[in-house]
Amino acid sequence: MSEGAVKKEEKPRKFQAIRGTRDLLPPETALWNRVEQTAHKVFATFGFGEIRIPIFEQTELFARAVGGETDIVSKEMYSFEDHESDELAALRTLLIAKQPSVSDPNFFWSYEMKVTEFRERLGRAIEIGEVGRTPLNERVLADLGPLLDSLAFDRQEYEKTKDAAIFERFNLYVGTIRRHLLAVDLGDQVSLRPEATASVCRAYIEHNMNQLPQPVKLYYMGPMFRRERPQKGRYRQFYQIGAEVLGGSDAPAIDAEVIEMVMTFFDRLELEGVQLDLNSIGCRDCRPKYVELLRAELVKVKDKLGADSQRRIETNPLRVLDSKLEGEQGIIATLPHIADHLCDDCKTHYAPVKHQLEMRGVIYRENWRLVRGLDYYMRTTFEITAQGLGSQNAVCGGGRYDGLVELLGGPPTKGIGFAIGEDRLILSLQESGKAAAQQGRDVYIAWMGDRAHATAIRAAKGLRKAGFSVELPPVELKFGKALGQADKLGAKYALILGDNEVSEGLWTLKTLADGSQAKFTEPDLIEHLKKQL
Ligand code: HAM
Repeated sequence: MSEGAVKKEEKPRKFQAIRGTRDLLPPETALWNRVEQTAHKVFATFGFGEIRIPIFEQTELFARAVGGETDIVSKEMYSFEDHESDELAALRTLLIAKQPSVSDPNFFWSYEMKVTEFRERLGRAIEIGEVGRTPLNERVLADLGPLLDSLAFDRQEYEKTKDAAIFERFNLYVGTIRRHLLAVDLGDQVSLRPEATASVCRAYIEHNMNQLPQPVKLYYMGPMFRRERPQKGRYRQFYQIGAEVLGGSDAPAIDAEVIEMVMTFFDRLELEGVQLDLNSIGCRDCRPKYVELLRAELVKVKDKLGADSQRRIETNPLRVLDSKLEGEQGIIATLPHIADHLCDDCKTHYAPVKHQLEMRGVIYRENWRLVRGLDYYMRTTFEITAQGLGSQNAVCGGGRYDGLVELLGGPPTKGIGFAIGEDRLILSLQESGKAAAQQGRDVYIAWMGDRAHATAIRAAKGLRKAGFSVELPPVELKFGKALGQADKLGAKYALILGDNEVSEGLWTLKTLADGSQAKFTEPDLIEHLKKQL
């Protein structure tokens, strides 16, 4: 038996999609496509252009933008070290593995050899640009020289004297070398994107989009990754459709138009039970004061709160407002509202946002408890829920994030945007009976005989060119069986091609709904179908 072959008694392992990820299959994917096409169309009518950004970025980008203390960054990101030099990384892993205190000369000899190899490889990798020429990397490279010399010196001493005390020194050197190797920066710490706003801002800066006419209006769609506890409407790989407006002013009409655009999109899809919640969470000036006030109020009622909320009094009091715990609702209702503590600038921004929404006929509900789980927001925040989703019912979240571009090293820039959870949007559409139908075929070609097969291939080409969906069986089937197949596939017509049809040049078309048949020349057939379908 060849090496790769599976032994008879061993059942080959069955693979399954990883927890929190899933396959999207036809016919459901037709609904996904319809949703995405609608987004392309609607967003284009608002003057948005599509941006495609990478699936992974430097971890630091998300940490800075979304916030290091948020659940997303502190617990949910898929992160890994991305280095070009795998061999160097493997060697390092080997060398930094914790060693018990050893007194075996062979261990030290081989350790010395491997560190020598590591040092040489690191030097070469820096030389050819595989590893960054950072001050720290250069220092490690320089320090490893004398450390290796000391190891070699002691090895020679040991060979001469066999003095076991030398091992103690060895162990100390190994510790120092480990610390040096740990400090080597072999590449970037990267993460699969948990969201896309950070990347869009990074791209805005990187491509100097502030030179373009402002504001720049961008939208995106694609998978995002968060290591959350999977449940209905919550996945570890999920899909977002989002949009961002960057640069220009922070005119309230921009906030309102962005929200109008999402609502128009949902309307176009006939999403049901849509509810828009709106809030202003203030700015760097007024929010900290409100947070302190909230904290002070929460401390007074601490004993009546659950463990999570008690913890959040310290870490992030705003998140207490998010609590769904039955027993906490009465207490939360008595807490101060942010709307009463906004600074004058925030007040004069929020009121016209509401007015602008009314001018656009967008119905909203003010929700003073709406706080968002990402750090970059200020002023306008909003969330949209839809029906049929159970506890994970937010289909869209967004808000204003002036200052985020600056935080990422760009010029002062206004920004606002949203992201729709596409999985949830699809779920809600399905729950309200908007699932995609199984894709049938327009024409099933039933053929028998070699000459008919050649004609069938030509017929399929012509029909497909005309835009019809065609099923051409790859092997000959008796007509009875072929027609059965056509039925199962939900075909509307069967084109029957046998010897007679081929020699006469007249093809038989059977309408499967009523069983009627008629004969056509090839051009007439296409004309006929165009009229019928
Ligand atoms: P977010 O609220 O974290 O905001 O996510 C937006 C939407 O993505 C949620 O309302 C939800 O529909 C969906 N979503 C989030 N996590 C999951 C999950 N694990 N499974 C399924 N769906 C999920 C953001 O991501 C911001 N970047 C939105 C934004 C853009 N703000 C300004 N611009």
